[in-house]
This record gives sequence, structure tokens and C-alpha cells, in this order.
Amino acid sequence: MLIRRPSDVRPSEITPEQVYRDRRRWILQAGLAASAMGLSGWTDRRAFAQTTGVKLPAARNGAYVVMDKPTSQKDVTTYNNFYEFGTDKGDPSSRSGRFRTSPWSVSVEGEVLKPQTLSIDDLRKLAPLEERIYRLRCVEGWSMVIPWIGYSLSALIRRVEPTGNAKFVEFVSAMQPDTMPGLRVPVIDWPYVEGLRMDEAMHPLTLLAFGVYGETLPNQNGAPVRVVVPWKYGFKSGKSLVKIRFVEKQPMTSWVRAAPHEYGFYANVNPEVPHPRWSQETERRIGEDGLFSPKRKTLKFNGYGEQVASLYSGMDLARYY
Ligand code: MTE
Repeated sequence: MLIRRPSDVRPSEITPEQVYRDRRRWILQAGLAASAMGLSGWTDRRAFAQTTGVKLPAARNGAYVVMDKPTSQKDVTTYNNFYEFGTDKGDPSSRSGRFRTSPWSVSVEGEVLKPQTLSIDDLRKLAPLEERIYRLRCVEGWSMVIPWIGYSLSALIRRVEPTGNAKFVEFVSAMQPDTMPGLRVPVIDWPYVEGLRMDEAMHPLTLLAFGVYGETLPNQNGAPVRVVVPWKYGFKSGKSLVKIRFVEKQPMTSWVRAAPHEYGFYANVNPEVPHPRWSQETERRIGEDGLFSPKRKTLKFNGYGEQVASLYSGMDLARYY
């Protein structure tokens, strides 16, 4: 995979503006075509329910609670990125009502001694559920503070007994063409694929999440199960997972494939490394965005440096962005 320091890359190579404009125009046209095809009719009354109403009891784990004020449940459940349902922030909540999350199973496979397919109920019961309040920082420059419910992904990883060849973990999201109108628009190569290095996946902060705000995950937030990696940009946290695969080589992830100069495999939150189109120095906290509210300074590793910086000691984080 071609990864170079931004300083090594000639400005003309960083997504020429015309290409970017063409791509934007194309996405826009595809969107218009989609609505002309009647896809807006995918909106379902149930989709407007912001929450599932299904309680998911969990004890709060104080070791993983940030002090920032949580973002409102309304913002967490209506301002989303879930391109399988559309590219507007409101699309996931308004168009995901027909998405089927039951029955659901997750296949855990690849370089493991005990590959298995777990039903969502078995997966949820695998370890005690905890409530954790994490910051989420999107590469687009906004952030939220979200009370998730889940357990450390490491509990599942230990259960399947990775072999010595397991160096990376790949996360594959669901594709349900009849309920996901966004799949008709090739924003990325579907399905949505993300990945982590094995030590990142084993880090206790990496959460396998089943709920938010005291209830099971609403479809727009990645029902029925997703991953949450709080020190990385939000796109690393794949939603509605159907497959978790252990592999020897660094997986090709969706955003790296789509725009390698813009998105790296590591994607650690880093105010010192700008995205070609967005400085990453500051962020807008959703819910605080009054006309005069100051932007917040973005924290390296999204504020989780004490816990995770050692994973990257000796690595040039501008090169491995
Ligand atoms: N997972 C899938 N399958 N599809 C997506 O479009 N978007 C990502 C990530 N996971 C995305 C995804 C991005 S860019 C962000 S910022 C977070 O989900 C947003 O999570 P939230 O909507 O629950 O806040």
C-alpha cells in the first residue's frame, strides 16, 4: 500500500481539486438519481423512532468515563454517519427503519484455533456489559461524547484463540441491499471494511458495543453490534458487524482503498497531522455549536494518549497516518 508523508506528496498529487469537485458532483448527482428512483420512499415511519426502547442493563465502569458532558441522546441518534443508508447526517435515522437486525449472527474466523459463528444473544452474553462514556472524534471535524454499552473486544478475541499468524483484525459490516438504500451509491466499495492491528484490537479501550444511552443500539448507530475505538477517527469504528476476521497481512480497508492520500490505516486522532481537506487542530462539539461557541482544541489520540501512546512508540505518526 502506498503511504507517504504528506510533505513527500506534491500538492498536485493530493486529490487535485478538480477531481475532488468532480467526485463531489458525482456523489451529488448519484444522490439526486437515487431520489429520482424513488429511494426517498425508503423512509419508514419506524425510522423516526430515535431509540429502540429496549433497555440494556449495564454497570458503569468508572475507569472509562470521560468528564465531558455527554452529547444529547437526540444528537447521538440523529446526527450520524452510516453511508449504507445515505450520506446526509439525517439519512441513517430516517432511512434505517426497515433494516433487519434479528436474527443476527457474527462469524469470527481466520487465523484462530476456534472459529465460530455466534448469535447476537450469545455474543452479548459473552462478558459482563459495562457502560463507558467515550469521546468520538470524526475526521470531518466534529465530536461527541457518547455513553456506550458493551465490553472489551479482547474478551471475544481470547475466546477464539488467535494463532501466531493473527497480526490484524478485519471488521466487515452488513450489506442488506433491500433495506440499505445507500448501497446503490458506490461511495466506497461495499461492504464497509475496517481493521485494527492485533494489539489495538486487544487494548481494553476497544469496545464491542451493543447499546447506547441505556438501550440496545438503534439501527442508525450500528445495531445490533459494532466496534468503538475511541482514540481513532470515527470511521475506524465499523457498524452492524457480520464478520470479524483474523489475518496475517494488514487488511485493505474501505476508506484507504477509496482515497489513500486522505485516509490511512491507523487514523489515530492527531491534531498535528492535517487531512488534505480538513485541519485536525480543532473540533466542533455537536450540541455546543451556537454562533459564538469556541471550537475545542483536538487532543492527540483524542485524549487517550496516556493509555495508548505506547502502542505507537518509535512510529512516525505522520507517515503512518
Ligand atoms: N460503519 C459503517 N458500516 N458505515 C459507515 O458509514 N461511518 C463511520 C463509523 N462507522 C460508518 C461506519 C464514521 S465516519 C463515523 S464518524 C462513525 O461510524 C459514526 O458513528 P455514530 O453515527 O454512531 O456516531
